[in-house]
Formats: sequence, C-alpha cells, structure tokens
Amino acid sequence: MPSLLAQPAPTDATLRSAKPTALSAVKGMNDLLPEDMAIWEHVEATAAYVFRQYGYRAIRTPIVEQTAVFVRAIGEVTDIVEKEMYTFTDALNGEQLTLRPENTAAVVRAAIEHNLLYEGPQRLWYFGPMFRHERPQKGRYRQFHQFGIEALGHGSPEVDAEQLLLVWRLWEALGIKPEQRPALEINSLGASAERAAHREALVAYFSAHASALDADSQRRLGTNPLRILDSKNPAMQPVIADAPQLPDFLGDESRRFEDQVLDILTQAGVPFRQNPRLVRGLDYYNLTVFEWVTDLLGAQGTVCGGGRYDGLIEMMGGKPAPACGFAIGAERLIGLLQACAPLKTGPLLDVYLMHWGEGSTAQAMVTAEALRSRGLAVQMHAGGGSVKSQIKKADASGAQVAVILGEDERAAGKATLKPLRGQADQRTVLPGDLAEAVLCLTR
Ligand code: HAM
Repeated sequence: MPSLLAQPAPTDATLRSAKPTALSAVKGMNDLLPEDMAIWEHVEATAAYVFRQYGYRAIRTPIVEQTAVFVRAIGEVTDIVEKEMYTFTDALNGEQLTLRPENTAAVVRAAIEHNLLYEGPQRLWYFGPMFRHERPQKGRYRQFHQFGIEALGHGSPEVDAEQLLLVWRLWEALGIKPEQRPALEINSLGASAERAAHREALVAYFSAHASALDADSQRRLGTNPLRILDSKNPAMQPVIADAPQLPDFLGDESRRFEDQVLDILTQAGVPFRQNPRLVRGLDYYNLTVFEWVTDLLGAQGTVCGGGRYDGLIEMMGGKPAPACGFAIGAERLIGLLQACAPLKTGPLLDVYLMHWGEGSTAQAMVTAEALRSRGLAVQMHAGGGSVKSQIKKADASGAQVAVILGEDERAAGKATLKPLRGQADQRTVLPGDLAEAVLCLTR
C-alpha cells in the first residue's frame, strides 16, 4: 500500500519564505463558507431527525484509525485500500495509521471494543468527514462528508427494507419531489458459497476472454474478479455484458431474503430497479446491496450506497452478528438539493444595534444582552463610524430591524426602532418596551 507521506517533512526554514504568499486549501478538500452553511445545517438537522425517527442513536469515532481496521474490512484488493487511503506512520511509535476513507469499519471496531452488542442489537448513525485520495472533480473530493447508519446485530430482511424506507423519507423530508429523487438500484450478492461459485464462473469466462480485458482487469482476474464487472472502461462493456450474472447463482434462501426486501418496498410504494451488475466497491457485503443514483449531478451521481455485511463483525474480531447499513455523500446530496430543492432561508439576524456618543458602547452591550435574553439574535455595531456608515452596515447585515442608541435617544432615555424590511414606520420606545416591540416586528 503506497504511503502518501513519502517525502520528508519541510523544515522551518522552507516553511518561512521572505515574503509570505497566501496559502490555499489542499486540492479536493473544500472550505465550507458561511454562505454554504445554512443548507448544510438544514441537511444535518433533517437527517438527525429522520435517523431518530427510526430509533438510530448517534456515534462518533476518531478520524484516524489503525490502517488494519480499513484493510481488513474493506478488502486488500479494492480501489480504496490499494490507492485511495491517506496512510502514514506515527513518528513516535511507528504505528501505521489511516485517515478514515469510510466509517463502517470504524463503527464496527468501536462496537466490538466497547462491547455494545452485549446489550443487544444496535442502531447507530454518524456524520463526519471521510478522506480518499481520488482525482478531484465535481462531486468527488479528497475530503468529503458522509451521513451513515449501521444496524448491528440485525439479521432480518425488514431491517434492510426499513433502511431504504428511511432514505426515501429523508428525500421527502428534504423537499425533493418524487420524480427528482435518486433512483434506487438494488441487487443481492447472496451467500459466500454462492459468490464463490459465481466467482469461479467469472474467472473461467474472463480467462477465455482475457484479450478483451484492460491491464487493471487482467490483474483483478487473479485477485478480485467481481470488481471487473464494475469497470467503467467503455471498451470492456461488451465482454462485461455477457459475463455470468450473480443472480443466476443464488440459492433459495438468498432469493427468499431478497424477495422479502423487495416485497416491503413494493408495498410501501418505494420505486426500485433490480440491477444484477451492482457489486459495490467494498468487499464486506453479502445479500442486499443498493445504491441511490441521480442523473442531475453529472458523472458522480451515486448519492447513497450500502447493504448487508453479515460477516464483518466476526471478521473484525467480534462475536458473529449480522448487520446492514448505508452512507450518503453529503456534498452530492447538497448538490442535488441545490439543483432541485433550493433552501429558502429567513434572515439569520433580528437586530442590528447602532450606537454613538460618549459611553454608548457599554449601554449598547447591556441592551444587546437584554434582547438576546428574549431569544433575539443581535449584532452590535463595532468600531464607531459615522451615522451614515452605521446605517449602511445595518442594511447590509440582513437584520430585520435596527435599534438606534444615538446621543439624542440616550439623553431622552429611549431607543429608536427602525424596521429594515417591510413597511412599518420608525418609532421611539422606552427601554422596558424594546424587546416586546422588536419581537412584534420580527416574529
Ligand atoms: P461508499 O459507496 O464508498 O460506501 O460511499 C458512500 C457514499 O459516499 C457514495 O455513494 C458517495 O455519495 C459518497 N462518496 C464516496 N466517495 C466520495 C468522494 N470521493 N467524494 C464525494 N463523495 C463521496 C461506504 O462508504 C460504505 N461505508 C457505506 C455503508 C455503510 N455500507 C454499509 N454501511
């Protein structure tokens, strides 16, 4: 596995240049600026609400884990482990560490370490940054965020189906119209013996067509032939189209499991498409796998991916227990919302508090505190300036009203209330009536 920290760290002298140049963020890692945050906060709050509606409890795990956590869970012959992990050696103790490229492995590690399953099955959700060293493009970043849920210790098909109903509800809660919602593609990877039989058939088939495979796929033939089906190489699509399909290798039990999931979806009115070629890019799955895909985002259209991973907990050193889950890419979901359900936000600030004259600052601060105690959001003018420039700043602040504590007001023991939006007239009020008067204008 390549280390991304192969170069020696720069010395102090190289970091200090004569004339400082502006530094920029790492390629593929984005700042979220204040103007971006309203929609992020809205999506975070909505997802947390919907997860709670289904009995999921939040969990947070560290951003850095031992590399083995991901190698063991995701699989050595996967794109993520082979080329996308930010892995480095801890200089103090030589430990191999990795910035998490996903969070299922870490949640399972934490559940085993803290014996969570001892108390019974666990429904967990998380939100946070993940890191993959991919080629950045729209919708594909090196630091991105995922909302995910993991149902640990849950083995029955209704849990898979319920997670899909949850996603459908989340689209609805975010205001995405049914026809603009990502489309659900679903498949079954069956049991390991069924996958082994399919794998054998795949190896035989692709070996017979080896000349049609690109170098990557030829290598995968000996390591992970299932992933050849996932190749995006257009030249290989005809040979992939005729390859043996996994659904043909499924036994009765796997079919019954899949039928039960699909039956619930059908009864609940959640549209889906069975896609026998869907294999996912991580090795831990069995039975149900799914992706929610949109064509409103260009090339990176997979908004959510997940499935069942009944073998992972045991593989990570825990007592055998089934599980399933998914993760939603937050940047892609927000991109989708911006395309089809833009957020209408109200003003973030209620009051801009203007003041001038000797000793006005302390009085303005006390007034601001009194207004905040009534639940109002107040920005106090800072740094003096003419009355005209203060009015300009009040207008630009987005606040709904300006409260003015000028020399005249303070001499008269009053405050002026100046609505900044709408038709109401400016008027003076006594300090005791101020909060009520502002509330009347803003709520
Ligand atoms: P995944 O399919 O690798 O699954 O990622 C889930 C979602 O994260 C993707 O569908 C996509 O929306 C988003 N995503 C992935 N890579 C990037 C990227 N470089 N830039 C932006 N968004 C990205 C997992 O991670 C599994 N842990 C899901 C899971 C949970 N399965 C079971 N439980």
